Amino acid sequence: MATVTFDNATRVYPGSGKAAVDKLNIEIADGEFLVLVGPSGCGKSTSLRMLAGLEDVNAGSIRIGERDVTHLPPKDRDIAMVFQNYALYPHMTVADNMGFALKIAGVNKSEIRKKVEDAAKILDLTDYLGRKPKALSGGQRQRVAMGRAIVREPQVFLMDEPLSNLDAKLRVSTRTQIAGLQRRLGITTVYVTHDQVEAMTMGDRVAVLKDGLLQQVDSPRNMYDRPANLFVAGFIGSPAMNLVEVPITDGGVKFGNSVVPVSREALSTAADSGDRTVTVGVRPEHFDVVEQDGATAQSLSKESDEAPAGLAVAVNVVEELGADGYVYGTAKVGDSEKDLVVRVPGRKIPEKGSTLHVVPRPDEIHVFSTSSGTRLTD
Ligand SMILES: Nc1ncnc2c1ncn2[C@@H]1O[C@H](COP(=O)(O)OP(=O)(O)OP(=O)(O)O)[C@@H](O)[C@H]1O
Ligand SMILES: [Mg+2]
Repeated sequence: MATVTFDNATRVYPGSGKAAVDKLNIEIADGEFLVLVGPSGCGKSTSLRMLAGLEDVNAGSIRIGERDVTHLPPKDRDIAMVFQNYALYPHMTVADNMGFALKIAGVNKSEIRKKVEDAAKILDLTDYLGRKPKALSGGQRQRVAMGRAIVREPQVFLMDEPLSNLDAKLRVSTRTQIAGLQRRLGITTVYVTHDQVEAMTMGDRVAVLKDGLLQQVDSPRNMYDRPANLFVAGFIGSPAMNLVEVPITDGGVKFGNSVVPVSREALSTAADSGDRTVTVGVRPEHFDVVEQDGATAQSLSKESDEAPAGLAVAVNVVEELGADGYVYGTAKVGDSEKDLVVRVPGRKIPEKGSTLHVVPRPDEIHVFSTSSGTRLTD
């Protein structure tokens, strides 16, 4: 087992003026499951392929444990990779597919059989060892691909979207299996996906990439609670965080008819960079509904002649999920209409066409610089 270190690792493809991966720095602990996530083209596969030795590193270095592997050929790195298109050999049995790499490496037959049988037990493939791949389900084939990696007992597993050939339901069950398997084996794993839900549910830590640049590397919990910038804030979480540009006022920010308190520090940082607004992030579950179609919520009763507190959200679509529901609405923010998503309790679903007045919970809001996108609150 081993740690993995990306130390300013950079890849510039020939003929391209821009780095596909730019000064990537990540330290992955021994036995950790690290997920690389980001939109298409952000450099996930390139990062993984640099670690595998399938792509040149143009600057910086990569280490596995104490070994500098930057310029080692793939076969000397002690890694095993599972790709998106894990083509199995169709004419070979499951057992032969799984043992193939060991056979090439000259391992003797009885040892291969033992390793294949052990891996099959872990992967629940014992009954299928004699079958050909075409007689397997998609999920079983995927497990054979995992088996090929496991029998090699590498120091590091690399996986590039290994579940993307599976249908939605199988993806969910297989990702649980892979995460569980990795924890049992304790082998350091770098896993690539573009699916933020997959990243959040599988990773010990998640690294978010955008345009070849690392945005944040953190535990799923911290990533959700304290996104480092506007990009991460919008990328992690489903439905996405609401991001609203609002004017700075004394001691806080103006949110419809309410002032939401924001730390003085955050506001002065924004003002120092010449901004008159900040961008406030509120997750759908962090709004309180203070009034619904004129019926004031008991918790926040107020004088009836003043304008309702908070932001008026016109309800366009309601998604009922039983325990709760999501309201997709529009609110007037400044001079423009802004789409918002608000989570409401399952027994208090508003009607389409009605109006909700919402206030974000002050201790749950995220404040970002409108100009630079960086997080301003703790
Ligand atoms: N062999 C190559 N030659 C030139 N440019 C490449 C090559 N491979 C990838 N790129 C470019 O490098 C950037 C990063 O590509 P990469 O494959 O790492 O993205 P990715 O994050 O894995 O995307 P996806 O989610 O679509 O798989 C992209 O702009 C891509 O076009
Ligand atoms: Mg890719």
